[in-house]
Formats: sequence, C-alpha cells, structure tokens
Amino acid sequence: MLRLIGNLVRPYRRSLGVVLAAMVLETLMGLAAPWPLKVVLDNVVGGRRLPQWMSGFFGAAWGGAGKQQIALFAGIGALAIAAIGAVASYIDSYISETVSQNVAHDLRMRTYHHLQRLSLSYYDKHRAGASLSTLTSDIDTIQNFASSGTLGILIDILAVFGMFVLMFWLNWQFALLAAAVAPLLLWLVSRHKKTLKSATRAVRSNESEMVAVEMHGLESQRVVEAFGAQELEEARLNRVSQATVQSALRARKIKALLSPAMSIAVAASTGFILWRGAGSVVAGAMTAGGLTVFLSYMARFFKPVQDLAKMTNAVAQVAVAVERVQTILATDDVIPERPNARPANFPRGEIALENVGFQYIDGARVLADVSLRIQPGQFVGIVGPTGSGKSTIASLIPRFYDPSQGAITIDGVDIREFQLQGLRQHFGFVLQDTMLFRGTVAENIAYGRPSALEREIVEAAQLANAHEFIRQMPEGYQTMVGDRGMTLSGGQRQRIGIARALIRNSPALILDEPTAALDSEAEERVMEGLMRLMQGRTVIMIAHHLSTLETADQIFVLKNGVIAEQGTHQRLLLLDGVYAGLHKAQTTRAVQAAG
Ligand SMILES: Nc1ncnc2c1ncn2[C@@H]1O[C@H](COP(=O)(O)OP(=O)(O)O)[C@@H](O)[C@H]1O
Ligand SMILES: [Mg+2]
Repeated sequence: MLRLIGNLVRPYRRSLGVVLAAMVLETLMGLAAPWPLKVVLDNVVGGRRLPQWMSGFFGAAWGGAGKQQIALFAGIGALAIAAIGAVASYIDSYISETVSQNVAHDLRMRTYHHLQRLSLSYYDKHRAGASLSTLTSDIDTIQNFASSGTLGILIDILAVFGMFVLMFWLNWQFALLAAAVAPLLLWLVSRHKKTLKSATRAVRSNESEMVAVEMHGLESQRVVEAFGAQELEEARLNRVSQATVQSALRARKIKALLSPAMSIAVAASTGFILWRGAGSVVAGAMTAGGLTVFLSYMARFFKPVQDLAKMTNAVAQVAVAVERVQTILATDDVIPERPNARPANFPRGEIALENVGFQYIDGARVLADVSLRIQPGQFVGIVGPTGSGKSTIASLIPRFYDPSQGAITIDGVDIREFQLQGLRQHFGFVLQDTMLFRGTVAENIAYGRPSALEREIVEAAQLANAHEFIRQMPEGYQTMVGDRGMTLSGGQRQRIGIARALIRNSPALILDEPTAALDSEAEERVMEGLMRLMQGRTVIMIAHHLSTLETADQIFVLKNGVIAEQGTHQRLLLLDGVYAGLHKAQTTRAVQAAG
C-alpha cells in the first residue's frame, strides 16, 4: 500500500517540498501569533522592562522605546505575522490541491487502464457498478486526503513539538502537565483505530453495492417498467441503502465518542492551569502575558492532537479506499500475452480448433471436445440448440477467454503465441445486437478505425444497406446516437454494425446470430448487406435461421459440447440427424405462420 502511494507521489515531490515549506512557515507564524499580545500585556500595560535585545533594537531603529512605540510595533508585528501566514497558507492550499488533483488523475487513469485490459471473465464475476464506485468515490477519498491529510499530520506533529518547547520555557511544570494529557488522548485514538477501519470498510462495501444496484436498475429501466417491477427494484435498493445507513452509524458511533472524550480531558487541564496559573501570576512567578500565551497555546496544543484523532477516521477511510483500488490493480485476470509474442500476420489464415474444452465456471463444462477446421476464404456455419456453446466458440477464437483444454490455431500456430491486439485485428464482428456508443452515426461506423475517411464511411454504409435511412435522419451522418441519442431500430443498428465491420476490413469475420432478433423484412435487408461484407473473407456464422446457411461451404452442428455432425446443408439434410431435425422444426413453424 505504501509502495503504491510512494509511486503516485514521486513525480510531485518537488511541489510537495514547496507545500511542506509553506506549512512550516504557517506553523511558525501560528506559534508567533500570541506574542505581540504578550508584549502589550507585559511591557505596555504591565510596565515591565523590555528584554535587552529588544530595547537595543528600539533604540537604534525606532528612535526610542516609549510605550507608544512598543504598542505600535506590536500592532505591526501582529499584522506582519498574519500576512506571512496568509501567503504561506495560500501557497500551501493551492499547490497541495494541484498535487492531489494530479495524483487522483493518475490513479484514475491507471485504474481505468487496468480495467480496460481485464479479461471478460473478470466482468463475468464483478459488477460494473462496484468498479464505478471505486473509480469515483474511492479515488475522491484518496484525493481529499492527499490534499489535506498527508503533510498535515507531519505539520501537526511539528507544531505540537514547537509549542511544547515554548510552553516549557514559559512554565515547565504546566507544560509537563499539559503534555501528560496528550499520550492519554493518543492512546484513546489508537484503541479505536482497528474497529474504525473495519467499520469503514463495511461502509464502503455497502456503498459500492448500492451504486451497483442503482446502476443496474436504471440501466434496465425499460424492463422494469414493462414488468411494473418498480417496487421490487425499490425494495432492492432499500435493503442495501439501509445496510449502508447501519454501517455508517456504527462507524460514527466509534468516531463520535472520541471527540467529546477529548474535549473533556482538554477542558480539565485548561481549568487546572487557569486556577494554578492565576496563583503564579499573583505570586509573581509568571507574567500575565506569559499566562495568556500559555493558555492560548493550550487551546492550540490539543488541536493537532484532536486533529490526529479526526485524522484516524480519515486515515481509516483512505486506507480502505487504497485497499479497494489496489484490489482492482492487483487483479491479474488479464489474457496473458507472451513477452516475446509474435506479430499476428497470417499468410493463409486457416483457423482450427483442436480438442477444445472450456468451462466458464469450474465443474460446468460448456465445450467438451470440439475439433473443427476452417479453410481460408470458407463460409462456415455453426448451429446447435440454445446454450450449446456456439457463442462460446465465437469468444474463444479472438481470445476473449482461453480454452481450458486443447488449442486454437491459425496456420498451425497456437493463437496464444501471437500479440493479442493483432490477433483481434484479424477478426471483424457482427453480433446479435450492435451496441452503439454515444456519438454521431459516422463516428459509430468508424469505431473500429477512427482514421476512416468520410468517403469510406459513406461507401461502407451503402454496402451495408444503411445509407438510405442514415440520409433521412435529421442530421444525416452527424446525427447523435447511442447513449441518450436518437434510438434506432434493431435492423438499423445491425446495418450500422455491418458498416462498422466493413470499415474494419478484417480478413476473417465472426457473425453471431446477426439476424436472430429481426423480423423477416429487416432480416432480408441485413442479409443483403452481410452478403457483401462476407465476400472474399473467411466467415464463421452462427445462425439461428438455418436458411441463411444454405450456401455455406461447411456446417458444424454442436451438441452436448462436441461436434455431432458436419457437412453442407444438403448433405446434413440427407443425413437426417440433429440438423435435419432443427430444419424440420423451423420449416413447419414457418409454414404454420404463413398459413
Ligand atoms: N459469461 C458466462 N459465464 C458463465 N456461463 C456462461 C457465460 N456465457 C455463457 N455461459 C453458459 O455457457 C453455455 C453456452 O452458452 P453460449 O455459448 O452462449 O450458448 P449459445 O450461443 O450456443 O446459445 C450456457 O449454458 C450458458 O449459460
Ligand atoms: Mg449465442
């Protein structure tokens, strides 16, 4: 944990040096602040003589050490002390905010960078809302602490020490008395540190659960309203929200106890010194000014100690926040790339699965032993009942997951040997539903290749049968779509997806039920675009409607985790097995629907 913090702070060590210097200056000015009052009380009002060095100074520079001059000097001194303190405080607060903002930025980027590269299996196991909560709340906590906390502790300790020396000089018995209370307070604080930290951890985990529930609920608003499930969703939030309240109160209970306990200890010792101090002044052992300074230090002496106590809470919070960020950073659930991975260029591009087995969750085998070979330029279909693992195969080929047994090869080389980015560049994807990002239609089409020219974008849209409807949109290719943009129909989204794949222009295509969610009219238009996309490429098409595979060179039928049958459409029908059964079911349904 300290290493992470050290790493983050290192680039800003010079700024931190400036902040530290400003803080020291602030502290010194804080220590000096009550002294003009002492001078006035003792040497102007009280009529005591100035110490030798001061009267010498007045004689030379001030033209005399009369009471008026001393009072004026004290006034100017008070102003000067405040002014220097103010400048130091400005520098301190501005620069430390600069540092903390930058540290938060670095940490945010580092965490997001890591999240961007985690394997899909991480996202199968973790909720987006929880990661979001870490990216926002936890990093905010660290930022707030960095701006106010870290060096503050140092300064507090410095101030306590400085004050103690001065107090000791003013009256050592009282100073020792005051100092005796401090360890008591620190002991009180340290006793609660552990409980406070675990309570804080509970609060944060509940809070992030809350974000996850809210985010999931709001994202699914359409379904929620369709099913009238508002109350169910509210109940869900109510549960985690209540838990958050409970854990926050538990944390506060511990914290709330500290402050009053301290105030009482402080008041007791102040009271004592007020009583005994007055006696000392009357007896002449101490000046009135000295007692005033002493008492004003007393009030401040315990402030850093109290701050340290409050800091315990901040430290607990920041420790938990760092812990949570680090949990993400330490997740090594990335698809590994060999250090000396080969650049991914495939002269032929023959894809093969060799005895591939796979499971998402231990013990729940999805693929048992799948072997298949796809020649370059071939159009290959994969069919099978729902849940038979078709999409899983489509995820294994570009290494969204790695098989748990067997291997996938391209041109005879295990794909784990290649650079990941290049391997994925080899494939274009059109999935069951095309996800649009917030941006213009043109940007969405160019998503896979941001450098695409406008001409190329229009050309791709034309080939994908999308140009016509895009032209009719309010601002054509510049219409905003996606998150809070214009909503497109499923068929329109798919055609944008095809244009996107055309722009990417990769040698191989993975099509996962691209028309499954469409009605037959939309399907026809999408298929036209797909056919143009498929030309001259190796195509793996997972198909729901078997009619789309009539022209396939080879069809693999997946069942119970293995390839049960393979061949062309015609041959598989003759075989009269699984495929023929699926086909029969579909045609009778189509006839019934037509009749
Ligand atoms: N991310 C995942 N985590 C756990 N199980 C999964 C995941 N994705 C799919 N599965 C399971 O794997 C099996 C095959 O899924 P899939 O490949 O999507 O089937 P198909 O595309 O043939 O309908 C199903 O039983 C499904 O529940
Ligand atoms: Mg599927």
